[in-house]
Amino acid sequence: MTRLIFLGPPGSGKGTQAAVISGSYSFPHISTGDILRQAVSQGTELGQKAQTYMDRGDLVPDELILGIVRDRLSEPDAKTGWLLDGFPRNVEQATYLESLLDGIGQTCDRVLNLQVSDDSIVKRLLERGRKDDNEEVIRHRLQVYRQQTAPLIDFYQSRQKLVSVNGDRSVEEVTQSLKAVVNSLAH
Ligand code: AP5
Repeated sequence: MTRLIFLGPPGSGKGTQAAVISGSYSFPHISTGDILRQAVSQGTELGQKAQTYMDRGDLVPDELILGIVRDRLSEPDAKTGWLLDGFPRNVEQATYLESLLDGIGQTCDRVLNLQVSDDSIVKRLLERGRKDDNEEVIRHRLQVYRQQTAPLIDFYQSRQKLVSVNGDRSVEEVTQSLKAVVNSLAH
């Protein structure tokens, strides 16, 4: 059983690597960003509430996110492992996750922290061109990351869960480093 969190700034490759790793090891890739974008494209109540925050590059309020993660982790395919991408995003979400996992007798094995320079991030995201990938919103997302998400590095370091990986290399090189960490987990 493997339970992982991918941490890192916008554009650090969390989604790219999470897709490869979850495919290789057959555990579900749970991306709160993907869940929210799907809700927006389907025009659900969640999507309507989330859209303005996402377009600005702000975090969607915790009360919209926490229940989604709780429900998703209780689905059958998550019983044997999971990979969380884009959650938790702040200390409140991390604390919630910790107590949620405690309650169901689970723990996260590792938090993989992808480190990428701001210059690479801006270049990658401008090339991708998602709706929230214009320069002004990218800079704001980076600011939000520094203020609200980066404190999770210390949070997980102090719990001996954190492994930092240089994400400023080719996709394949980063994958190899991540696989080395996953393979080192004894299950
Ligand atoms: P989310 O979807 O989580 O976006 P993000 O964290 O900003 O991350 P990105 O998807 O931009 O980047 P990534 O690290 O996944 O990199 P990727 O692999 O795509 O969140 C979007 C919004 O939803 C948030 O702003 C917020 O509003 C809301 N939200 C989501 N979760 C939330 C939560 N928990 N709480 C509150 N709000 C939440 O790669 C980026 C690009 O780089 C791609 O084009 C890729 O091909 C390329 N690339 C990847 N790796 C490499 C490499 N090694 N070399 C060159 N190019 C690469």
